[in-house]
Amino acid sequence: MMIETCSEQETIEFAHEFAKSLAPRDVVLLHGDLGMGKSVFSRAVIRGLCGVDNLEVPSPTFTLVQTYDADIATLWHFDLYRLSDVSEIYELGWEEALIDGVLLVEWPERLGYLRPNSCIDVILSPVSDDFNMRKIEVVRHG
Ligand SMILES: Nc1ncnc2c1ncn2[C@@H]1O[C@H](COP(=O)(O)OP(=O)(O)O)[C@@H](O)[C@H]1O
Ligand SMILES: [Mg+2]
Repeated sequence: MMIETCSEQETIEFAHEFAKSLAPRDVVLLHGDLGMGKSVFSRAVIRGLCGVDNLEVPSPTFTLVQTYDADIATLWHFDLYRLSDVSEIYELGWEEALIDGVLLVEWPERLGYLRPNSCIDVILSPVSDDFNMRKIEVVRHG
């Protein structure tokens, strides 16, 4: 499916709805350039699944991963931008996450051959030259 949002708030609302479709073992891969809204989207999914609107969701830019205990599963929020080699991902709990977690992955291109066959691509891209519009495509694989 594909939608366009006109503001950060609309992206948050869409992410809240999207979060309701998630189940343990879902791997959400967030694609898009810097500033497209991968973290905005992830934060909204995490807050939705934890049921806490103002939950602190720090960016995992430096820690590379943050986890959250939601009712449906442990949520694993990865930011792989600073991963220098894909083999480092095992130290972050990647295999444990795949057992029964819900995964949100920023910069999933870094996964290379570790990209799961079964996953959900969320692709954020600009719309014309409007700074506050985004196209959001959701594609489920496997
Ligand atoms: N329609 C929109 N959806 C999401 N974010 C938007 C939108 N319009 C503007 N923004 C802004 O874009 C930025 C997205 O930042 P962020 O989520 O950190 O990006 P990324 O994680 O992809 O680098 C935020 O400053 C947000 O306010
Ligand atoms: Mg980000």
